Amino acid sequence: MKFIPAKYPQSRLRRNRQDAWCRDLIAETRLSVKDFVLPLFVREHHIPPEISAMPGIMRHTLEELILICQKAQSLGINAVLLFPCTDPSLKCEEGKEACNPDNLICQAVRLLKRECPDLGVMVDVALDPYTSHGHDGVLREGQVANDETVFILQQMALVLAQAGVDVIAPSDMMDGRIGAIRKALDQAGYPNLRILAYSAKYASAFYGPFREALGTLSALGKADKKTYQMDPANAREALREAAQDVLEGADMLMVKPALPYLDIIYRIKETFPLPLFAYQISGEYSILKAASEKGWVDYERALIETLTSIKRAGATGIITYAALDAAELLQG
Ligand code: PBG
Repeated sequence: MKFIPAKYPQSRLRRNRQDAWCRDLIAETRLSVKDFVLPLFVREHHIPPEISAMPGIMRHTLEELILICQKAQSLGINAVLLFPCTDPSLKCEEGKEACNPDNLICQAVRLLKRECPDLGVMVDVALDPYTSHGHDGVLREGQVANDETVFILQQMALVLAQAGVDVIAPSDMMDGRIGAIRKALDQAGYPNLRILAYSAKYASAFYGPFREALGTLSALGKADKKTYQMDPANAREALREAAQDVLEGADMLMVKPALPYLDIIYRIKETFPLPLFAYQISGEYSILKAASEKGWVDYERALIETLTSIKRAGATGIITYAALDAAELLQG
């Protein structure tokens, strides 16, 4: 027998929307503070804390990092994703500081594992915080060299592993890096260290504020990352990227940015039974903040709406600079 839905006026969809209790009861998507990962920028003392394109977000010294992580934990946030604001004097063409076992990010990881042992600590793996040209890999004849970069990323992953990181999150979009990092970790005795693959990472205009935070904006100048990050026009290609990462041993997948790519989140979620993260990136945060500062949108409502949409599309976790704000809002 075929199901024939009732027609108007028998079927009035507004009946269920009459009161708040009922709307709550029938909500198909529910945000939880447990969904969130908080990205944090780490700085040396002499680097200024403010990021002009990201109102409300700071670069943190190691001491400040502990405090904000404790605050996140007190609100129920379980994990953070760390990025270093490397001193310009430590940047070079080859991004050597990335593999220094005493670099700022390794210090931060060691400190957090000691001070906040229950907090999940993830670190982004790519060379852009460390290269003088701002690219995610090393340049050979003007191009980012894939295999040589992957070799460096293996060393970078190993120093992070030694520092005690919980999750390695390669964001560089080099081919074969997940498999290579998995192999390096396994051989070095870290078979249980998780890899969160930035599988579908698009060459997006919305990374601007993040690049200001890290100081890579001016380094990149007019250059772009289109030879390694994905073309926003492509969706099927994202499935190939994800498939590759799954075969190479990724434990979790990611789509980035989030809101302009809800269809990609949905497709990857439908295709691969792995945990799937979406990264609400810097520019997505900044447009909400800027429009609310102008009085054009309500930041709090718009924030919850975007996060709900990202979860509805299929993300099992959301990386968002607004995690603390959202956690407070969800507490009511
Ligand atoms: C680089 C990296 C970027 C982000 C995370 N890792 C920027 C880029 O690719 O230039 C962006 C995050 C954000 O915009 O919030 N490996």
